[in-house]
Amino acid sequence: MKQSGMQLADVQNVYAGAEGRLWELVMGEQIHAGGFASSMELATRAGIKPGMKGVDLCSALGAGCRFLVMNFKAVMCGVDATPHMVEEARKRAPFESWKIEFKLGNVLDVPCPSGTFDFVWGEDAWCYVTDKNKLISEAARVLKPGGIVAFTDWVEGPAGLTGEEALRFNTFMKFPDMQTLPGYRALLEKHGFDVREAAPIEFAKYVDLYIAMLTEQLTFDALRILGGDMELFKAMGAEMVDMQRKTHAGKIGRGRFIGLKK
Ligand SMILES: C[S@@+](CC[C@H](N)C(=O)[O-])C[C@H]1O[C@@H](n2cnc3c(N)ncnc32)[C@H](O)[C@@H]1O
Repeated sequence: MKQSGMQLADVQNVYAGAEGRLWELVMGEQIHAGGFASSMELATRAGIKPGMKGVDLCSALGAGCRFLVMNFKAVMCGVDATPHMVEEARKRAPFESWKIEFKLGNVLDVPCPSGTFDFVWGEDAWCYVTDKNKLISEAARVLKPGGIVAFTDWVEGPAGLTGEEALRFNTFMKFPDMQTLPGYRALLEKHGFDVREAAPIEFAKYVDLYIAMLTEQLTFDALRILGGDMELFKAMGAEMVDMQRKTHAGKIGRGRFIGLKK
């Protein structure tokens, strides 16, 4: 894995400020590619059932938890390290009866006892976590035996990134590094999961969509978030176009992972 040197503080700055609001502008409250349909596919394939107790690791605005409560009647807890995101998640889950608990914490040391959950959930966020090995070990720790881990994530694609390409992309995105599909499979196996799925999923069309939205519809809104700074908007646009090229070349992709704790 190619390291960029990005740390949790860099990610917290993104999600406490303008960059995080830009991601919400193009992706919506579910800050992941594919939105509702992607979550529905993940939950259905993972076999999430009413009454199951789950934890969303890197829960951001809380949309993952709300999605699972609304559509699968799960009982949810969300963990996120950015205070602003935890505050927003609490505000945006208005129904007391949903009983979603949002905790401020680092997913490298999940603030929950061992063996608590029926499933661990993650959507396009674990790419920000500095130690994927520890993260998967924490996922295994907080699960009950037979529990499910279900997540999607941005990964390095089969064409691979050179060191220079990885540095540019991961620095722009504030990712410390990206896993690969076989890399995540190996980590899941190492931490005692029976891997049911480790498969590539659609990504390039979403990057195309975000660029089209920013240039053809939401330019004014994006500029408002950036304080009217057209130069910054163009510079970020250039990085998005670089991402688009790498995605279409198979150097960057997305994966869906489902495992059962043995
Ligand atoms: C792309 S957002 C997650 C989107 C969310 N899964 C969804 O689908 O709406 C990334 C989130 O990961 C959180 N994050 C990154 N590293 C973290 C860590 N080590 N511990 C907890 N949260 C972390 C950030 O604070 C941010 O809110």
